[in-house]
Amino acid sequence: MNTREGFSNRLGFILAAAGSAVGLGNIWKFPYETGQNGGAAFLLIYIACTFLICYPLMVGEIAIGRKAQSDAYGSYKTLGNKKWGLIGLFGIICGVMILSFYNVVAGWAFGYFLEISFGSLLQEENFGNFFGSYVADVSDNLLFSLGFMVITAFIVVRGVKGGIETASRIMMPLLFFILIALIAYSLSLPNAMAGVRFYLMPDFSEITFETIYSAVGQAFFSLSLGLGGLITYGSYISKKENIIRSASMITIMDMSVAFLAGLMIFPLVFSQGQEPAQGPGLVFVVLPGIFQSMGPILGKIVGGGFFLLLCFAALTSTISLLEIPVAYLVDQKKKSRKLVVWVMAMVIFLVGLPSMLSQGAVRIFSSLPFYGNKSTLDFVAEVFSDISLPLGGLLMSIFIARRWTFSAFSDEVAEGNPKYKGSFVEKYIHIVIKYIAPVALGIFFVLIVLEKIF
Ligand code: PHE
Repeated sequence: MNTREGFSNRLGFILAAAGSAVGLGNIWKFPYETGQNGGAAFLLIYIACTFLICYPLMVGEIAIGRKAQSDAYGSYKTLGNKKWGLIGLFGIICGVMILSFYNVVAGWAFGYFLEISFGSLLQEENFGNFFGSYVADVSDNLLFSLGFMVITAFIVVRGVKGGIETASRIMMPLLFFILIALIAYSLSLPNAMAGVRFYLMPDFSEITFETIYSAVGQAFFSLSLGLGGLITYGSYISKKENIIRSASMITIMDMSVAFLAGLMIFPLVFSQGQEPAQGPGLVFVVLPGIFQSMGPILGKIVGGGFFLLLCFAALTSTISLLEIPVAYLVDQKKKSRKLVVWVMAMVIFLVGLPSMLSQGAVRIFSSLPFYGNKSTLDFVAEVFSDISLPLGGLLMSIFIARRWTFSAFSDEVAEGNPKYKGSFVEKYIHIVIKYIAPVALGIFFVLIVLEKIF
């Protein structure tokens, strides 16, 4: 066990876990979900869910991994038994499926980087049309999503310290800076305040079950929570690590980036007279406008820079997703890391093809008859992320309460944090994991079932 490779220090872990959390979920998904679900009301529920339910579960997930020193399946098996291990296995499958479509969107971001920096995208007149034909085009997407998967695999082969950690260290801070600069710019545009109002002044009459459903799914997805990714990363940290503090920092970083992305996008949406509820194309349609207005040279530099950083943010997430099945196969099946990485990367790429072709290229994938004629990408994202991650969180809370026990859980968290026992934070985390999370998520699933059936 002692030979298990780990992160080099506290900052390394926080950056890698925050790198996993911060990604397309914050900059691509969060703004369009907010736009589709009534703006500020959605933001509010997302923030509440993050603090009230997700943060304590994150502490739980990291603690499970560090205690068991194993992958998602192995950790549940070690601390529970083979049956509990099924929760971990379920999470690993979710990781595979999420990466399969996530990688496609990452490919779009990479394509946009090239089209802005070296192509003529910024001379387009209608960015909506451009986006529509871009994602329907097979050749570019095939190439870029394959490229993205290959780069991900290269980094994951190098392992925890050399690959994952170094990548996160450099990219995260840069992304933060460019976001702040773009916010300042977009707030100065005409009609920006209408966007700020939409984003920050809640209209409670807008809240529907759909709003809550999307906000809960978004909170889990954005924090990379509920599928064992944090178990895997948690297994690479030392007993000296203060899990409470690390989890707070990861949560706050992730939420800030999402919040800032919204603050950048909505002023822009309103100043361009666009529709906030236009869906997954939102940032790809709206952002080029700001870069175009900067003039040809500056636009290429800032716009290209932005999409390149978005690719990096996505990359620190794809590596964490690939690491989930890889850690499982290395730990449980004793396979060579290098072999497993390449095989999994190619399998996941293939699994992602229907999602890739579902954006207009191939009719059957673009409109699934059993799924309200929505796309395969939407389907995979809803089943394996919006529904499955909160379900994974619910099962984990049951595991901690029923099997692992709170005293063992507390002992683990108290390592590296001697003041934890008896503290307010400890009580808060226990109450959430014992009552609030299972009850709230339980009701949530009953409602989903009712909603889907009737
Ligand atoms: N949290 C990542 C994002 O916001 C996506 C992700 C989900 C990564 C689950 C790992 C596990 O982009």
